[in-house]
Amino acid sequence: MAKLFIEDLDLNNKKILMRVDFNVPLDSSCNVTDDTRIKAALRSIEYILENNGKLILMSHLGRPKGKVVDSMKMDPIAKRLSELINKNVKKLDDCVGVEVEKEVAAMQSGDVILLENLRFHAEEKSGDEDFAKKLAGLCDIYINDAFGTSHRADASMAVVNRFVSQSAAGYLLQKEIDYLGKAVEAPAKPFTAIIGGAKVSSKISVLENLIEKVDTILIGGAMSYTFLKALGKGVGKSLVEDDKLDIARQIMDKAKSSDTAFLLPSDHIVVSEVKEDAEAITTDDENISDGLIGVDIGPITIEKYKAVVKDSKTVVWNGPMGIFEMSPFAKGTFTIGEILAITDCVSIVGGGDSVAAVNKAGISSKISHVSTGGGASLEFLEGKELPGIAALTDK
Ligand code: 3PG
Repeated sequence: MAKLFIEDLDLNNKKILMRVDFNVPLDSSCNVTDDTRIKAALRSIEYILENNGKLILMSHLGRPKGKVVDSMKMDPIAKRLSELINKNVKKLDDCVGVEVEKEVAAMQSGDVILLENLRFHAEEKSGDEDFAKKLAGLCDIYINDAFGTSHRADASMAVVNRFVSQSAAGYLLQKEIDYLGKAVEAPAKPFTAIIGGAKVSSKISVLENLIEKVDTILIGGAMSYTFLKALGKGVGKSLVEDDKLDIARQIMDKAKSSDTAFLLPSDHIVVSEVKEDAEAITTDDENISDGLIGVDIGPITIEKYKAVVKDSKTVVWNGPMGIFEMSPFAKGTFTIGEILAITDCVSIVGGGDSVAAVNKAGISSKISHVSTGGGASLEFLEGKELPGIAALTDK
């Protein structure tokens, strides 16, 4: 069902409460070290201001568990946002209460307020109705532009909507839904999913959902070793989830019965100890000898995966191919990223580690869509309904 969209609304002189995901990394002096998520909300912010709305922004930062934690206050974010929009952003000391209500009542069109961290109140995470009602009381219209938090049924995401007449999607949320939704429902073919990362356990649902939709799945990262062990291959001392061998076999069986090519690494980069200056050896085939640890996909696998990516029209990538944080073991991840960047296809990268990898490789501008959601994009690709999207007003 299509949801109400920011452009469907009359924003003139209205109080707009917009949930954003400003859960961004800060350094020890509380400076924002990566403002990607703040920048991603700018289109909605600017649209509301151009249309004479009174903008009340709200977000969580970290996991303060219902207590005020100084290092998780929103001040550094208000500062960064002020710089980005070249306008004063007034940060309040709370997100609900009499003082907040007074400040909101005094707003003029074009003003911007940033509420204090929602998660300083335990009622945010518990989805408390009274708390949601207080938030709703601040506004005429609610907008969700917090894709990265849309898998959480928190008060500001999925309960506040019950107490406002119009809940709409912002530009960022809509863009995420458009890209991820199209990839899952109506992808240009051939459709390839590159799934990596350390654990099969965190990717079971996404693999199960995508197996029937994609033409090829390319597996990388430490989760490969669980699949290879399930096939009886040697994995040495590599990271393996022994309790997931059965599920790994079931996934491979499902791929076979769905006629989906399920590719595992044919060779690996291995070390005897995981450290940057360890001697890196390339294996002859998919087997890893006793005592050795897999840390990246090998050159034959890179060529094999490159060929698949080059022929694809849609590629979804979630999870790195190796321990890319250590440069000697980053080649698999970066090469796959580079080939994706120059392939004429719809490319979608989601998940914290793969997003970090494309940023580190400097290719994010060449990817069709880099999702701002980690858990949220994974749950979307798992085919789950996200509470923050479901709660918006139907068109
Ligand atoms: C994220 O960073 O994935 C989102 O901001 C959600 O944060 P959470 O996992 O603490 O709910």
